[in-house]
Amino acid sequence: MTDQVDIANLLEELRTFEPPDEFRRNAVVSSDAIYDEADADYEAFWAGQAEAHVSWFKKWDTVLEWNAPFAKWFVGAELNVSYNCLDRHVESGYGDKVAYFWEGEPGDKKELTYKWLLDETCRVSNALKELGVRKGDRVAIYLGMVPELAPVMLACTRIGAPHTVVFAGFSADSLSGRINDASAKVLVTADGGWRRGAIVPLKENADEALKAAPTIEKVLVVRRTEQDVSMQDGRDVWYHDIVPNQSATCEPEHLDAEHPLYILYTSGTTAKPKGILHTTGGYLVGVAATHHLIFDLKRNEDVYWCAADAGWVTGHSYIVYGPLCNGATSIMYEGAPDVPDKDRLWDIAERYKATILYTAPTAIRTFMKWGTSFVEKHDLSALRLLGSVGEPINPEAWVWYQQVIGGGRCPVVDTWWQTETGAIMISPLPGITKLKPGSATFPVPGIGADVVNDKGESQPFGGAGYIVLTRPWPSMLRTVYGDDQRYIDTYWSKFEGKYFPGDGCKRDEEGYFWFLGRVDDVMNVAGHRISTYEVESALVDHETVAESAVVGRVGQDKAENIVAFVTLKGDVTGDEALLQELREHVSKKIGKIARPAMIIFTEDLPKTRSGKIMRRLLRDVAEGRPLGDVTTLANENVVEEIRDKAAARAGKEED
Ligand code: WTA
Repeated sequence: MTDQVDIANLLEELRTFEPPDEFRRNAVVSSDAIYDEADADYEAFWAGQAEAHVSWFKKWDTVLEWNAPFAKWFVGAELNVSYNCLDRHVESGYGDKVAYFWEGEPGDKKELTYKWLLDETCRVSNALKELGVRKGDRVAIYLGMVPELAPVMLACTRIGAPHTVVFAGFSADSLSGRINDASAKVLVTADGGWRRGAIVPLKENADEALKAAPTIEKVLVVRRTEQDVSMQDGRDVWYHDIVPNQSATCEPEHLDAEHPLYILYTSGTTAKPKGILHTTGGYLVGVAATHHLIFDLKRNEDVYWCAADAGWVTGHSYIVYGPLCNGATSIMYEGAPDVPDKDRLWDIAERYKATILYTAPTAIRTFMKWGTSFVEKHDLSALRLLGSVGEPINPEAWVWYQQVIGGGRCPVVDTWWQTETGAIMISPLPGITKLKPGSATFPVPGIGADVVNDKGESQPFGGAGYIVLTRPWPSMLRTVYGDDQRYIDTYWSKFEGKYFPGDGCKRDEEGYFWFLGRVDDVMNVAGHRISTYEVESALVDHETVAESAVVGRVGQDKAENIVAFVTLKGDVTGDEALLQELREHVSKKIGKIARPAMIIFTEDLPKTRSGKIMRRLLRDVAEGRPLGDVTTLANENVVEEIRDKAAARAGKEED
């Protein structure tokens, strides 16, 4: 029982969920013929989607040029993303339509119309040009969820300057690393951001980052939190000083379909994050088509809310580009879900009559913990569809979401995808798919996916292994920025001719996909990817640490926590104070999301005779399982010792 909901009983009753008749009748997709049509000729299918959802200045000569693993989509075509997201809607009479009901954490509210977004985007475009940004230059964006965010991103696309958005929760070090890798010329940031009533000091972090990021020539600063910040003469410019007096017209560049659109960094299995490169035409087709099909979007009726942060790919694809390209009305909320109280999201959903809500399992589990009373205070009867993304959703959370938030009537689309895939790859279509709580169901029309074993052999239904994608798709990453070899090695070398996402997956007897989590050293903490190696590097960077090994500990509810095993130098003692200091150190090096939930000091780490740390055993220890095979261990006693220490620390960890 979680509050008044009997989950076990519901799970028993809700083995499957069929779309309600009314939903099916009115759905964007109400017949499964779309799968056969897409499979018969996937290039033709995507070309059809490209015609339906995107306006092109110049049509393509060839739909796909595939020199595996390098793809070009809509070859020869020209378009502009901001034109598609703004101008054409205004031109067809939708200027006064609300693009975003924006709400700040302190309670301030704004209605951002398509006309306002277009004008502001043009003004920002002109301001960026004045600051020296030219087509092809990279612009870094380190902003919270402020009203200026979408105009800044769209302005970059208007002038053909690829952006790289850095999550506002990342540290100065993480910011400078990304700026340097992208060689960004201009940074757009704010004085600060609101988070749980406190100020995240964005400008201060940016100043720190820029000491080690020499490519930045100008910094454009949005005023949000209004505390004093230092402005460097000749480098820093207030947004309100140069944007409002720019012209509200700026011709959109006619860009090649393969022109770089943005770089977004994501953790891989080494310390250095990978710059995932997306390009213009294919990406826009992918996000617009999936947003329309999977969220069953009725442009003039729905109020759509993706409660993610634009610092992650979900925000790029399903807060900004997909919804705007489709002319949707969205909700954008700046802050935390428990300010001023734990019913903030439900209060917002009620006031704007949200019809579609898209959030992450980690958030759903938090709402479950808080209990149903916060939800019951509000009328959520406008909701008709729910979505989930970021990590496997445990069936208990699925059922709670469907029953308590969705009133038992809303389908839930569990959507599997990655920064690299750009758009949703595995998901139900809500008007036709019979749902099973905890399963992302089937590949999206046009997407080829399979489950294979170590040798790359397809596994029959009922089997488990690795998920692979078997065909190119329009919104696929084009490369790792500046590092084609890493692109080939990471994604295309494990299985010949197949894209390897790094996730384990099983398929049931009916062919439903059930995701099992990552199979590499990448953890998924509250829906965010962090590599064990990044956290280890941050720890050994501390003067007291000799060596460390980090593992992700997955609990009953599938939530993953960071557990660090640390050996200290010489005669340093591992006390409570040092433990807190190390946590803070990781937070400072990477960001708060990477702070270990548990740190265990140990004399030694379990290693093979060749000196390789045996993480498998550490994971067993962290998750409280009996130890697996220990015969290859060089130092047998050490695991016992670590296990005792871990048991002693259990219960003392950070929430
Ligand atoms: C995980 C987020 C199971 C997966 C869009 C993937 C999921 C990684 C799901 C990508 C889901 C995302 N079910 N696992 N519905 N959605 N994942 O790049 O491990 O931040 O590889 O993209 O999140 O995380 P990323």
